[in-house]
Amino acid sequence: MAAVGPKRNRILAFIFATLVVALALYFFLYFEQDLRNYLASRMGPRARAEDSLINIPKLILFSLLAFLGVRALSTIIFDFVFRLRRGYEAPTLVRNIFSLVVFSILFLLIFNRIYTEVNLGALFTTSAIFGVIIGLALQDTLGNFFSGISLHADRPFQVGDVIVVGQQKHTGVVEGITWRAIKIRTFQNHVVLVSNSNAAKEAIEVCPRDNLNARLVLFGTLYTDSPAKTIHVVREAVRDADNVSPKITPIVRIRNLGESSIDWEIKYWLEDYAKYNDTDALVRQRIWYALRRSGLTFAYPTRTVQLERKVAPKPVTADEQIADRLSAVDIFSPLSTEELQKLARATVGHVFAPGETLIRAGDEGSSMFVVHNGRVQVQVTENGRPRPVAVLSEGDFFGEMALFTGEPRTANVLAIEETEVLEIGHVAMKHLFETNPDLAESISWTIAERRASLAAGSQQLPQASIEESAGLLSSIKRFFGLR
Ligand code: CMP
Repeated sequence: MAAVGPKRNRILAFIFATLVVALALYFFLYFEQDLRNYLASRMGPRARAEDSLINIPKLILFSLLAFLGVRALSTIIFDFVFRLRRGYEAPTLVRNIFSLVVFSILFLLIFNRIYTEVNLGALFTTSAIFGVIIGLALQDTLGNFFSGISLHADRPFQVGDVIVVGQQKHTGVVEGITWRAIKIRTFQNHVVLVSNSNAAKEAIEVCPRDNLNARLVLFGTLYTDSPAKTIHVVREAVRDADNVSPKITPIVRIRNLGESSIDWEIKYWLEDYAKYNDTDALVRQRIWYALRRSGLTFAYPTRTVQLERKVAPKPVTADEQIADRLSAVDIFSPLSTEELQKLARATVGHVFAPGETLIRAGDEGSSMFVVHNGRVQVQVTENGRPRPVAVLSEGDFFGEMALFTGEPRTANVLAIEETEVLEIGHVAMKHLFETNPDLAESISWTIAERRASLAAGSQQLPQASIEESAGLLSSIKRFFGLR
């Protein structure tokens, strides 16, 4: 409603101006002959001089009327026909060109009519000097003008898009394209005008308004923090932040293994790119809180001091925890506390990222593994495609087949999530067999079952035959040199 007042005033002013000009023209034409006679009587022999005196105001009044007519015509065509009827907003440049062309034609017609003795065609075609002067004077203006036309024809961006333009990398929202320049409003609320001819020569980066534009936000964490955990925590913290598009899940990835930090980038997509400064800030804030809640730490240079102390790298987990975990493994349940602690000291901990391969089918293997944290998938390759055989989690073991039989690995084992495993080697197992002969028997039973499952191609463990298990037991004993 606020726009109605000024609009009405403009219309009233326009009508008033038209009436004044029309009235002036009417009186002028009415008294023209009298004026001529009067001037002729006063000027005497200087023939035709009075004509020039009369013609100049006449030309001005007619031109003014033509100008007002063109304005009215442009409003009717662009505001009523295009905008209201067809819903199409004509660019300012098109409107200006239209007004300029129509007015120039009308002006030439009026001029020709009033100054019948002047041959305009001859004037334009023969006056080379005139052409050169005009050309030189309007060099820049014409350059801008034609660049503006080509920008409109090309439509590389529209009002409301964010663009980065020029050598100074002016960044802002496009407010308009005139016959002279592109007008952008920067994020400091300044208006920058980049001339069309300059813009036409430079690369313009366009972030269209109706497009999902992405941003990168960088941060760094300590080397001791788990990458898989960081990815999860940061992604979840950012995905529902204001103005972060829910259509594409943000991507969190390691950008670099830096000198004092793991350098990360988060790529997210914005609903409204023009607000990227606020959204970047919000994303950083969310990351801070998320890291704080999850016990993850931003890296800063104090880390260097820790490195210089040359602290021996901590084992993945303490011995007691490992012994606890081993006691939960069914085949080790008969072991005494001391034996478990001894075995715990003999294990080596490893951490694997989601998707990493722990064991490759066909490889040689002289150790087995107990899942300490996380989950792994056992899979075999059939017709070139992986077929899952089993999922093993905390307290399960794998890799025993190659360790106890000396044969190559029977399957691939991959980490499903971040997984910590405890590796037990040949020597440690040999010691255990010597003090726990029953151990070989329960292991041979597990191996027989798993072999049968591999052969049957099913994820359920089928019953292994007693004969097969007995055969395995004797080959395990032989392989480990047991009686
Ligand atoms: P190994 O052959 O040394 O290496 C691959 C491991 O996958 C194998 O030992 C077993 O520990 C494990 N494996 C093979 N088949 C199965 C199964 N059916 N269920 C569970 N684990 C299996």
